[in-house]
Amino acid sequence: METVLVTGGTGHLGRDLVRLLKPGHRVRVLARSRGDDPDVEWVRGDLATGAGVAKAVAGVRTVVHAATWSPAARRGYPLPADLVRTPGDVDVFGTRRLLDEAARAGAGHLVYVSIVGVDRSRLPYLRVKREAERLVRAGGVPWSVLRATQFHWLADRMLGRAARMPVLPVPADLETQPVDTADFAAYVAERVEAGPGGQCEDFGGPEVLSLEELVDQWRRFRVRPVRTVRLPVPERAVRAARDLTCPSGRRGTTSWSTWLRARAPE
Ligand SMILES: NC(=O)c1ccc[n+]([C@@H]2O[C@H](COP(=O)([O-])OP(=O)(O)OC[C@H]3O[C@@H](n4cnc5c(N)ncnc54)[C@H](OP(=O)(O)O)[C@@H]3O)[C@@H](O)[C@H]2O)c1
Repeated sequence: METVLVTGGTGHLGRDLVRLLKPGHRVRVLARSRGDDPDVEWVRGDLATGAGVAKAVAGVRTVVHAATWSPAARRGYPLPADLVRTPGDVDVFGTRRLLDEAARAGAGHLVYVSIVGVDRSRLPYLRVKREAERLVRAGGVPWSVLRATQFHWLADRMLGRAARMPVLPVPADLETQPVDTADFAAYVAERVEAGPGGQCEDFGGPEVLSLEELVDQWRRFRVRPVRTVRLPVPERAVRAARDLTCPSGRRGTTSWSTWLRARAPE
């Protein structure tokens, strides 16, 4: 059985991917804290410092790099500072460390998990992802780059935080195409089997929704009553949001409402 290393294997996407890879592979996870799945080889490490990276890639044929550090995603809401800069310790410097060690260890395939529209967006976090993609392409390990649209869990977390406001302003006309991490993980697992594929087809959710539709569906499945007010947005912002969707790419099957219903409070 081939060993596959998953960085970010404790995260939302990573957990789904580990579950899908386990039946056919030895799965190793590089993580800052040890998980409790006895079927996984846990390597304690930190991409921001380089600790454990050489040990994690030893003897590995495929690396799936799904670790990331987004302060806004962790918090569940952006601060003005996130629109100016975002740390690159994990996504840029960590990616470089991982690539160097993977090349030294003779890995045959590095799959980099990225975001639809990184080449068109000026948001600092997406620019960091774009720089990581560039490193992967130049890094000397045969590669695949897989981009996805926004994950359901993140939209849910952000709406949950935003709904604490007395009135939630909704830039109603912006488009979004949220996707289930399990659907995307199945695509990532497919590309692990396929081998290095370069820039692969973008992956998005089954439907493109306006933010108004996204919020309306969310309200139906959440207990917290929230009042909303439509926020007008300039055409430039509408285009920028559309750049983060991929209506003609590969699509998952789990809709936003299906995902919400499965997690609705009793
Ligand atoms: N969220 C989205 O909407 C979205 C959309 C498209 C693509 N993506 C991409 O998909 C990938 C996975 O995203 P996700 O939403 O599943 O992320 P997530 O749930 O926030 O998980 C991030 C993972 O990175 C790990 N990590 C953070 N800092 C680390 C460090 N210093 N060293 C080692 N590991 C570290 C975390 O481990 P700890 O347990 O140690 O914190 C965790 O396993 C990322 O590349 C992201 O850019 C995300």
